[in-house]
Amino acid sequence: MEKIKWFLFCVVVSLCSCDGYKILAVFPTPSPSHAILGDNMVKHLLNAGHEVTYVTPFAPKKKNQTNVHLVDVSDIQPFFDSAEEMLDFKQILAGSADLHDFKVIFEFFSTIADMVLGNPNVRDMMRDPKQKFDVIIVEYMFHDLFSTFSAVFQCPYIWFSTIGPHWIVMNLVSGPMNPAYTSDYLQAQVPPFTFMGRVRELWTQIKGLYNNKFDFYYVEEAIYQKQVVPILKELGKPVPDYNELKYNGSLLFGNWQVAIGNAVPMPPSYKDIGGFHINEEVKPLPEDLKKIMDNAKNGVIYFSMGSNLKSKDLPDDLKNGLMEVFGGLKQTVLWKFEENLPNQPKNVHIVQWAPQQGILAHQNLKLFVTHCGLLSLTEAVHYGVPVIAIPVFADQFRNANQARNKGYAERIDLSYNLHKDLKVVLDKVLPDLPRYTAKAKEISAAYHDSPMKPGEALNFWVEHVVRTRGAPHLRSVALQVPLYQQAYLDLLAVLLAAAVGILLVVRRIFSLLTSKSTKLKKN
Ligand SMILES: *[C@@H]1O[C@H](CO)[C@@H](O)[C@H](O)[C@H]1NC(C)=O
Ligand SMILES: *[C@@H]1O[C@H](CO)[C@@H](O)[C@H](O)[C@H]1NC(C)=O
Repeated sequence: MEKIKWFLFCVVVSLCSCDGYKILAVFPTPSPSHAILGDNMVKHLLNAGHEVTYVTPFAPKKKNQTNVHLVDVSDIQPFFDSAEEMLDFKQILAGSADLHDFKVIFEFFSTIADMVLGNPNVRDMMRDPKQKFDVIIVEYMFHDLFSTFSAVFQCPYIWFSTIGPHWIVMNLVSGPMNPAYTSDYLQAQVPPFTFMGRVRELWTQIKGLYNNKFDFYYVEEAIYQKQVVPILKELGKPVPDYNELKYNGSLLFGNWQVAIGNAVPMPPSYKDIGGFHINEEVKPLPEDLKKIMDNAKNGVIYFSMGSNLKSKDLPDDLKNGLMEVFGGLKQTVLWKFEENLPNQPKNVHIVQWAPQQGILAHQNLKLFVTHCGLLSLTEAVHYGVPVIAIPVFADQFRNANQARNKGYAERIDLSYNLHKDLKVVLDKVLPDLPRYTAKAKEISAAYHDSPMKPGEALNFWVEHVVRTRGAPHLRSVALQVPLYQQAYLDLLAVLLAAAVGILLVVRRIFSLLTSKSTKLKKN
């Protein structure tokens, strides 16, 4: 008996102490949707028994947990907020919000990276000679600077991309994505492209790759030299070339599932983990909300523009117009809104805080009117709900176009006519709802039919990187082939030279012949 007890004790101890890795998670973007991703990634890692050091701007709002060490970078919040005013509805409606200039976006996020690497808490962590990690996971936000953590801690690192597969980030783990059928997230095209469409995509990538290899490269390299290199020297660690670091990611996690958009060729180091932020078990709805949804005989339409954009910034005409459109429907409407509105029709309910996953999971939910942020869209697909998309910024246009192309969504533009356009599209979708719903369910089934749940895949691949010391076998060989060779520019040069050579020879022969014949004639 004693022996068995001892044996069991040993089994338990070995189970508890075996596979826990030390992981650094860097998710410093101070926006709620990014925090949802970071928090849920940490949650999955903890559930698998790992110990996580979590760089987050929301540290002051978090409770201490066992196995989590918070590194507070909340000092970047004011800078972020100052720019977030760009996301004001009125400015977007007026077209004055500068959300499409890649240079502006790059400058903004590389400044944030500079602040994070210069943050005293982050620097203390980097300087601590006892600090060791098995692997690092960093959020990719339009700069490559967080790859430099891997030089400090001398361990493999993994990129995490918050948007669907995209040439800018894919460029870090493979060759360029073919612009003939992969759209830049701001171009937001869905293949097949027109001739001009393909030219635009090609030009976008050429311009972007030029920026990445030259302009932006020097800005980032300077930040690396300023913030990280002195620490490497202080600790007596080797100082790798910045280019070596940024192309040395072991994996790229995409917050994406192929069923949601277009399938495009991917390198083996790219892994879909989209949907990992969704709870496997739906949390019960609050009593009042549950009652509204349970009693909605004609079904529920849920309207939410996400957390970045506050619907209270909507112009009054638009608010009243929307209220009128919703009031004219036989369905119950749940409107996520941060203030209470007067004159609410009986079928319209304003919710200031909405447990979105619970609402989308309810059997009476019929339609989701959304800004088409990727988290919302993934949740819609997860629960098989058709969508009306009103994209506002960033990747939302591309998400919306892909969803429409798949047949479970319609798209309208945000404008002063939104209420009128919404009425038109509701009149189109609602009578035909079974068709949209069937399509949504079909895509949902494909999304769910996978060997591993997204959270399991996340842990499997993180552990795989540690077990295989950086997973070098997954890395695309394209990284070792210079761009001019991939594009066969050298062959082009040889062919051009040959053509010019032949032309010269032919001309020479021709001129010799003609001069001979004129000589003969003269004679
Ligand atoms: C969490 O732990 C840190 C350091 O151990 C401490 O300074 C901080 O007050 C704790 N926070 C809470 C909310 O308990
Ligand atoms: C690149 O990654 C591999 C595998 O993780 C590692 O052995 C190597 O030291 C890294 N190179 C640099 C420059 O960090």
